[in-house]
Amino acid sequence: MRRKIAAGNWKMNGTTTALSELATLAGQIPANAPNVVICPPATLLIASAEACAGTGVSIGAQDCHMQASGAYTGDISASMVADTGAGYVIIGHSERRDAHAESDADVNAKAQQVWGAGLTAILCIGESGAVREAGTTLEVIAAQLAGSLPDAATGANCVIAYEPIWAIGTGKVPTLEQIVEVHDFIRAGLVTRFGAEIGNRFSLLYGGSVKPDNAATIFEAENVDGALVGGASLKASDFAPIIAALAAS
Ligand code: 13P
Repeated sequence: MRRKIAAGNWKMNGTTTALSELATLAGQIPANAPNVVICPPATLLIASAEACAGTGVSIGAQDCHMQASGAYTGDISASMVADTGAGYVIIGHSERRDAHAESDADVNAKAQQVWGAGLTAILCIGESGAVREAGTTLEVIAAQLAGSLPDAATGANCVIAYEPIWAIGTGKVPTLEQIVEVHDFIRAGLVTRFGAEIGNRFSLLYGGSVKPDNAATIFEAENVDGALVGGASLKASDFAPIIAALAAS
């Protein structure tokens, strides 16, 4: 009923030599594969889309601007992303929220640009370590969803990625109970806001130190429909077993 999605976020890693990893990955995708999305740096979007055409791998950007066009030196718009052949855009990643001071309102505006360009948003939310320790994770998640997810969201145009900031790139993974708690909370919030039919259609991804050896456990959670993977998406030999674990879940 819901799309299973294995998405890889290459962050600021990869030049043209990394394109060979895409070909290797495409060759290792099982017949029962979930949706596979690779989000390379913007410089590789066109070449990646060309390399993956006709394979089971889709391409996404890591960000786009909240305006459609204009005097925004160095930025790229959602329609420019669509023009590369990509189908997805990550928005609201904690590294953008932190380092570029992106607010929930900014992310909300970006989502609408993404949809205007006919693309699917991978909208990221997640609490800091301080919030986790303070015991206010669910309040923060609720506020991020309320502020950054537009009313026009559907399970077709939007995927939600829960990425606890303290788990990103640290090797620290929440317990399965913690993952279940937040994902069930997100699901319940979506059902309350959008109704059961739409709310149950959103794919929910977990992100933060997902590796080949912990993926199968994470995918046991009923409301985990896939993963947003950073470091372990850079090499096909690491990402392929994560994809296989999702296919088997
Ligand atoms: P890691 O898998 O490297 O922890 O990164 C997660 C992430 O931020 C994906 O967007």
